[in-house]
Amino acid sequence: MNAPESFSTARLAAARPVSADEDFLIEAWADARVTKWLGGMRDRAAVLALFAHWDDLWDSQGLGCWILRDRNDGIPVGWVLLHPMDFGGHTGIEVGWAIIADRWREGLATEAAHRVVEIAFADCGLDELLSGTMTENVASRGVMEKIGFVYEGDVVHADLPHVLYRLDRETWEKSRG
Ligand SMILES: CC(C)(COP(=O)(O)OP(=O)(O)OC[C@H]1O[C@@H](n2cnc3c(N)ncnc32)[C@H](O)[C@@H]1OP(=O)(O)O)[C@@H](O)C(=O)NCCC(=O)NCCS
Repeated sequence: MNAPESFSTARLAAARPVSADEDFLIEAWADARVTKWLGGMRDRAAVLALFAHWDDLWDSQGLGCWILRDRNDGIPVGWVLLHPMDFGGHTGIEVGWAIIADRWREGLATEAAHRVVEIAFADCGLDELLSGTMTENVASRGVMEKIGFVYEGDVVHADLPHVLYRLDRETWEKSRG
């Protein structure tokens, strides 16, 4: 897909995960506040399996996960994702995000996701993106709406009610003016 393995925004430095990021991910996946909407907490082995999956995605498809660091102090604050997804039979490339709870509501997810959307359309040449979340995840729905995603409908994913949002290239181009 040709996504860059690193990028930066005004406040964030983003990069493909390296083994030094494992401890951060293990800690984040042990926090129920963050993982409530991500299928629940994962233990060390499950996080390392996820890490390996993201690594494989980068090698095989040229996209995956970026760890987000605060540019001021280099401390990790979350991650963003560009990855293949199937939401109740609706398949495509999804943009996803997670921010550590201490840094919520600072606009960090929106800032990172905004740039990932640009990467998906401008660098990867995608025609559309998906984003889905559990119906009650108002924070994630807020990010989707802030970056221009349009609600498409309700779907069942992982046996749970989810909402599916979509953003196509034409809508994205118009939003750029
Ligand atoms: C979803 C998540 C990544 C949002 O991160 P964030 O950096 O706090 O989001 P932002 O500050 O960019 O918020 C963007 C908008 O989302 C909405 N929003 C964010 N948090 C919200 C909350 N707790 N309640 C209601 N709306 C919220 C608001 O509209 C907000 O815009 P505003 O602050 O101008 O009102 C974060 O809450 C998180 O990591 N949650 C757990 C993991 C998760 O749910 N990931 C997504 C799974 S699909």
